[in-house]
Amino acid sequence: MTGPLPHAARAEIERIRDRYPQPRSAILPALWVVQHEHGHVTPEGMEDVANVLGLARSDVEAVATFYSMYFQKPHGRHEVLVCINVSCALRGADDIVTHLERSLGCPSGGTTEDGAFTWGSTVECLGGCGGAPAMQVDHHFHENLTPQRVDDILGRIRELETTAEAPLKPQRRRGGKAPR
Ligand code: FES
Repeated sequence: MTGPLPHAARAEIERIRDRYPQPRSAILPALWVVQHEHGHVTPEGMEDVANVLGLARSDVEAVATFYSMYFQKPHGRHEVLVCINVSCALRGADDIVTHLERSLGCPSGGTTEDGAFTWGSTVECLGGCGGAPAMQVDHHFHENLTPQRVDDILGRIRELETTAEAPLKPQRRRGGKAPR
């Protein structure tokens, strides 16, 4: 979905703005609001953020394009990142990548036809080396992967989507706060 942000999302950004002495400090959480609303950081969303924060649009764009966690184009409802660095490579990351490519039906960097998953295998370390091979799905970490475990994890997400009222949105990071 694109277009201007709905009223509730703008109000959320105003609330976030009012928590900081400098409106500029609210750019990151405001962009999360846009991404949660539209699925990616849309030009209209950045315009809205700039207006609410009283900043130039170029200030907001500079931040949005600097950080890879802000998506510049439509993205799957769930994000899968597979680590391919040394520890994971030694413990079978290549097999996981090959398996994902086959089971999701698109190459690394692609999105499944149904828009459920965008996945990538260019991550250099997820910080889960002790449980290699590792992947991250919507900010959750999964370790000691096998092709079967990958199928189970993604299958559970698909199952939840069919039973949930609305498509699931990204959840909490490990040991951190929800991204908004
Ligand atoms: S090398 Fe894969 S998580 Fe660190």
